[in-house]
Amino acid sequence: MSEIARRSEFPDLRGWIRALPVVAVPTPRFEPASTPQETFVEWLAEAADAGITEPHAATLSTVDPSGMPDARMLLIKDVTDEGWWFSGDDRSPKGRDLDATPAAALTVYWRELGRQVRVRGPVEVGPPEMCARDFRERSVFARAVASTGRQSEVLSDPGEYDRLVNERLAALERDPDLVSPHWTAWCVAATTVEFWQSDPGRRHLRYRYRRAQDRWSTEELHP
Ligand SMILES: Cc1cc2nc3c(=O)[nH]c(=O)nc-3n(C[C@H](O)[C@H](O)[C@H](O)COP(=O)(O)O)c2cc1C
Repeated sequence: MSEIARRSEFPDLRGWIRALPVVAVPTPRFEPASTPQETFVEWLAEAADAGITEPHAATLSTVDPSGMPDARMLLIKDVTDEGWWFSGDDRSPKGRDLDATPAAALTVYWRELGRQVRVRGPVEVGPPEMCARDFRERSVFARAVASTGRQSEVLSDPGEYDRLVNERLAALERDPDLVSPHWTAWCVAATTVEFWQSDPGRRHLRYRYRRAQDRWSTEELHP
């Protein structure tokens, strides 16, 4: 096991940060399957089997209308022939970004396995029944919070927020089938997907899938 660099042993921050250990996991060779979805699901299952918490967590990157990028974590909800699915409120900053520029990148990092996946492509909105199903699958509290529609706004009055959530909880109790019309299932219809496997000798393995007319091709990339 590598020695952990302790902050107290380093007078300067930069020196400590540079001394922090980087991952050194043995590199199993892997053969890319015929689609990136298949390879992704294999890697996701291996991450889950390795006991990684929230192995389906990913960073979603978007851009706003001025071209300013933003990124945040979320949970991948499904992987289908169409692409990688996630969900959220269309009134949130990510929802507004995607409305203005329907394209995104998803990045997954399974540190314990030294693996990264990068998914990029146009983003499509799922059909209303899919958005509704995703909403209904959330816990009642998560549905109440989601239907407040104020995500990422400044919280100037926590009391008012609690009242709003309680109001939404009461509404859901009266009508458990209530669905927020703003809850959205989005799909990154990937055009490129890159799989990266770390190597202690820096001979990282990188395979990129490219989609052209619904056919996938693969190419190996320089580390
Ligand atoms: C592990 C993890 C999972 C998350 N999952 C979701 C999710 O599935 N949907 C979502 O809208 N926000 C999710 N969030 C919260 C987002 O990171 C973010 O704070 C929120 O969506 C507001 O982002 P925005 O202001 O860019 O719209 C998650 C956060 C973490 C750390």
